[in-house]
Amino acid sequence: MPAKGVTLASTADVVVAGGGVIGTAIAWRAAAAGLDVILVDPDRGDAASLVAAGMLAPASESLFGEEALLALNQLAASRFAALVTELERAAGQPVGLRREGTLAVAYDTGDQAALARLTAFRRSLGLDAEELDGRSCRELEPFLGPDVRGGCLFAGDWSVDNRRYVAALRQAARAAGVRTVTGWVAAVRVQDGRTAGVRLASGGTDGAIRIDADEIEAGTVVIAAGTASAGIAGLPAPLRGAVRPVKGQLLRLRHPAGLPPVLGRTVRALVRGGDVYLVPRADGEIVLGATSEERGPDRTVTAGAVHDLLHDAMSVLPVVTEMILAETAAGLRPATPDNGPIVGATDTAGLLVATGHYRNGILLSGLTADAVLALLTGQRPAPEWEPFSPGRFATAAVS
Ligand code: GLY
Repeated sequence: MPAKGVTLASTADVVVAGGGVIGTAIAWRAAAAGLDVILVDPDRGDAASLVAAGMLAPASESLFGEEALLALNQLAASRFAALVTELERAAGQPVGLRREGTLAVAYDTGDQAALARLTAFRRSLGLDAEELDGRSCRELEPFLGPDVRGGCLFAGDWSVDNRRYVAALRQAARAAGVRTVTGWVAAVRVQDGRTAGVRLASGGTDGAIRIDADEIEAGTVVIAAGTASAGIAGLPAPLRGAVRPVKGQLLRLRHPAGLPPVLGRTVRALVRGGDVYLVPRADGEIVLGATSEERGPDRTVTAGAVHDLLHDAMSVLPVVTEMILAETAAGLRPATPDNGPIVGATDTAGLLVATGHYRNGILLSGLTADAVLALLTGQRPAPEWEPFSPGRFATAAVS
């Protein structure tokens, strides 16, 4: 059965495998630069991009030992406002960028000590981090509960409405002439040592995958399929093995009529050693996340996760109890052994990879598209990308 929307012997300059935030941003940028682009699997974004919260948080998510990732995330954050201006113009729709910053708060003395250690580390790297006592936190966010002991304001950590952002990328890609194929890439076709295109698969029953005869010819293929990248034949085996799913469950809390907005900015809370975040939208909705679970491709929502997220959120923001539990969801972050993305060329001419964005897919989407466009047009990506080449995982790949 041919995949919908594609005929045998379709051809393009570039095939992008994966229609989440990364693949769609790449397709948009490449088409806007004049390349003929086919995007396969335009719906793949539901695995991660549509489940995300949209935090643009290089400072408040930075961790010990991840300085190279921080530099990359900071570069992406510094370009995000300009990207949004361009995207909103191209798509003709808003993406809900919010610039109010992020307030990290601590619940008990252990949480306060942990936050103080992280804040000292972040300040040692020159990050903008303003320490606050509990009262100052409540002045900024009056609905915070009396048990919040203190916190830290990261003024440069913004957020975007991830669903509006992905919708705008899709619209901009369409407007730029990207063709989309529903289905997914089963294999990269290689002839005489270089990329010749892709072979498409279509779904069988009970999760079995049936390979169709359909193929798309293209001299360049970009694998940007998140956790599904690992299932694409033709990608070097070490790279396939480097991407694993890390499950994240999150909730959407709708604002009841008559209640004023309960948050003015993103709040991240350390609560009894656990980490929870609350990201407000313009209409008062709050995205509450997220678990971090090593459970393979499982996307079920569990009672325990819903309980823990709500319990921790109510510990710091008691008014959550009044809100409507509008949605529960589970997504799969594409994680790598060093928590960094994998972006660059492989040793198969014409085969590029852009996956493994783990916790930073929304933030890094525009910067990744810039890097891939640079590679497609014979330029060098920004130097911050050097530690994140495929070569670090695959002896068979080159940077
Ligand atoms: N960046 C948020 C998360 O991974 O849950």
